[in-house]
Amino acid sequence: MESTDADFWFSPASILVALVTIIFLLHRTWPHLFQPKAEKVAGSIENAGTNNSDLTVSKEPEIPDGWWSGREVFELERRALFSQTWLYLAHSSQFEKPGSYQSFDVAGFPVFLIRGKDDRIRAFHNVCRHRAYTITRRETGASTILGCRYHGWSYDTTGRLVKAPQFDDVPGFDRSQNSLFEVHTHATDQGMIFVNLNSGEPTAFDSGVSLSLSRFTGLEGKFTWVVGQTLSGNFNWKVGARSRQLDAYIGELHRKISEIVRLDPIAKIVRSITRKNAIEERVLFPTTLMYSFQDAGLCLAISFFPASESRTHIRYDLFALSAVDKAGIRSMSELLQSTTENFTAEIELEYRSISAKQGSSGDLNNKDIHQVLSRLQEHAKLERIEGGQILPAMHKPEGSTLFQKADQLCKELDCVSGGLQNGTSPSPLDW
Ligand SMILES: *[C@@H]1O[C@H](CO)[C@@H](O)[C@H](O)[C@H]1NC(C)=O
Ligand SMILES: *[C@@H]1O[C@H](CO)[C@@H](O)[C@H](O)[C@H]1NC(C)=O
Ligand SMILES: *[C@@H]1O[C@H](CO)[C@@H](O)[C@H](O)[C@H]1NC(C)=O
Ligand code: FES
Repeated sequence: MESTDADFWFSPASILVALVTIIFLLHRTWPHLFQPKAEKVAGSIENAGTNNSDLTVSKEPEIPDGWWSGREVFELERRALFSQTWLYLAHSSQFEKPGSYQSFDVAGFPVFLIRGKDDRIRAFHNVCRHRAYTITRRETGASTILGCRYHGWSYDTTGRLVKAPQFDDVPGFDRSQNSLFEVHTHATDQGMIFVNLNSGEPTAFDSGVSLSLSRFTGLEGKFTWVVGQTLSGNFNWKVGARSRQLDAYIGELHRKISEIVRLDPIAKIVRSITRKNAIEERVLFPTTLMYSFQDAGLCLAISFFPASESRTHIRYDLFALSAVDKAGIRSMSELLQSTTENFTAEIELEYRSISAKQGSSGDLNNKDIHQVLSRLQEHAKLERIEGGQILPAMHKPEGSTLFQKADQLCKELDCVSGGLQNGTSPSPLDW
């Protein structure tokens, strides 16, 4: 049999060649026929974006739900972070004389700092050992004896219970067993006071922080507190330090404060030369940022302490290297207040937009946010192993004494043990 043209045209090889040629031509002419369905892909990304659980699983696997607004995350932060991290609270120049105190709300832990007659500054849980009411009456004040307004238990500046009306005769009652619970403190060479709420042995104070502070321009000299205040806003504390408005806020403060501090001609020249280094920053993890306005000889500390998952106390303090006159203090105080109020409102807006997006979106490039996260993960792991919550800040009273049982019974029966009778306002005595 002879091979003909017709044979070639109907052979399997020729059909294959023809098919490949057709496909090649089609691809050149209508390439879109060969592309994957674009719509479908976009759709699935969008779904991942709108679905909370999908987002956390596919994009940021390590960020827990409720990162910005969840009560459980906040509770975990209290145990994992605020109960056992060194937190900057104040500077020693804020405590002028023995008895000077300042109260703080650190993630729902009431704490106060007080200068003792021995000049040492100590920190205590702001909780009366009688029935756990708050002891200090104001945010700041001065008194070497702190009398609880409710039933008159009084403590000295070292936290010792010195007076417990009507209790001294109670059998089994031992004043020395009812001192205030002290909080660990660490003061740096610059006089900056950090606290650690861990009721056991806290971690050692990070020497890196001391070193970093010693190199912080403005802190080499002796500086003193000028003004400070606590404001509050409706946002999660973690939004504060990473706010997009932070740079604008600090920039504006620096600009306006430099106008108040009338720089002499030489300082002005120095300032214009060193302008680009005019502001230095230090992060005091996890709550505080410090800024040095070196040309103005000022230093600002701003802290974000959570009151709840969606409410935060903003504490700011301004320090100066040299004395500031009364008029200067007043203008700085007004400037700081209005600028910080505006900043707070801006953070609130930012927070609303973050929490409206649901899920835990928001950039995690911020190193501190990563650090918070890893602390929470570590603690959660320990709790899983332990099979229950670990509360490092909790103090267990030494045994259940007779008195405590009696007092508990008294409380339940609603009887009176002196002092305030029935929910009326505390005595007007003020200190
Ligand atoms: C989205 O979330 C819901 C509930 O959290 C879940 O039932 C669902 O499977 C998720 N995924 C998609 C693609 O909807
Ligand atoms: C903050 O101040 C700027 C400039 O003065 C103003 O434009 C802005 O609206 C203020 N923000 C808020 C939330 O009040
Ligand atoms: C207790 O409260 C009642 C009314 O609320 C008042 O009349 C009474 O005087 C109060 N007692 C004391 C001891 O304050
Ligand atoms: S609660 Fe302080 S004395 Fe009773």
